[in-house]
Amino acid sequence: MKRIPTPSIFLSFLIIFCGIWHTYADQSDSTASLRELAGKCDLYIGAAVTPERMQRDSQYRETLAREFNLITAENVMKFHILQPQRGKFNFAPADQLVEFAREQNMVQRGHSLIWHHMGTPDWVTKGDWTREELIEVMREHIHTVVRHFKGKVKYWDVVNEAIDPEKSHGFHESVWYRIIGADYIDLAFQFAHEADPDVLLCYNDFGGERLGKKSDAIFELAKGMQKRGIPIHGVGLQMHIRTHGYPEPEDLKANIARLGELGLQTQITELDVRLQEPVTQEKIERQAERYQEILQVCLESPTCTAYILWGFTDKSSWIPGFFKGYNDALIFNREYQPKPAYFSIQRTLMNHLQKENVRSH
Ligand code: XIL
Repeated sequence: MKRIPTPSIFLSFLIIFCGIWHTYADQSDSTASLRELAGKCDLYIGAAVTPERMQRDSQYRETLAREFNLITAENVMKFHILQPQRGKFNFAPADQLVEFAREQNMVQRGHSLIWHHMGTPDWVTKGDWTREELIEVMREHIHTVVRHFKGKVKYWDVVNEAIDPEKSHGFHESVWYRIIGADYIDLAFQFAHEADPDVLLCYNDFGGERLGKKSDAIFELAKGMQKRGIPIHGVGLQMHIRTHGYPEPEDLKANIARLGELGLQTQITELDVRLQEPVTQEKIERQAERYQEILQVCLESPTCTAYILWGFTDKSSWIPGFFKGYNDALIFNREYQPKPAYFSIQRTLMNHLQKENVRSH
């Protein structure tokens, strides 16, 4: 049998020692929650939530309050829930979220005042309106809702998913566009501003993350609004993505930078990274990298102010219902255990803080 020479034994011990020390050091650092770390990075880290689960699941509430400093309403601030019948407002579920955010010292994001058919009740989409009548419906809704949450909601997605560059006129089909015309967007922002001049107003959309037709259209929309004196403060990039491909980080960074040149904040508003079934360890690791690379771009972009996930536990996500064959898009598993994506976010925030500390010394 070959004998191991003495220096190799020493070296082996050293390697084992370093390994143990490294693991220990990792663990001792990794007790900080995402919320604590993001706070130190001046970043909102958020999640979309539902009051139904919040009511009945204490682990859901605890994880949310521990790990995030912002919440978005996944559904309960949409038009069809807030005003299911004309003039009959249903604020109770949304108020629960707002109350939770207040108790836990979290920021509340409002999502979303005006959407197309998906978030809009039948009484609006199927009504036989004149332009003036529909403008009045929009004004009533936005005024009532924004006033109700005045001082409690910091950002509103005023208009969601209005642009469709594949259409010759450039807009997504909706009752708003069809009856009012493209200026429904300007009007919605004006009404929101009238109701609460302090709330920050965002345009939110999907597929506008990379440089290209859609992000060009969003950029032009925002620039045009500014020229016309319409109050707009930010753009929300939804980012329901997969493990490979779209969007490339460099593209995303350039896109955020050009919005920043207009004086606009960018927020990553609905990030999730869906996995094609069967879910493997390799896919879960790749998912962690995606969460990491998007966060890295946001941290390196001075105008990127929020990194928000569309949920946080695989127990409660829209993905399996909307994308057949996909699942497990979030950073906690169904038992609320952190997945590799959680640790990749945590590491990225810690590295960012370390770099910032070095820079400020
Ligand atoms: C989704 C919710 O997650 C679902 O529960 C609901 O049935 C449909 O809407 N873009 C958006 C979000 O702006 O409001 C959508 O949320 C997901 C896509």
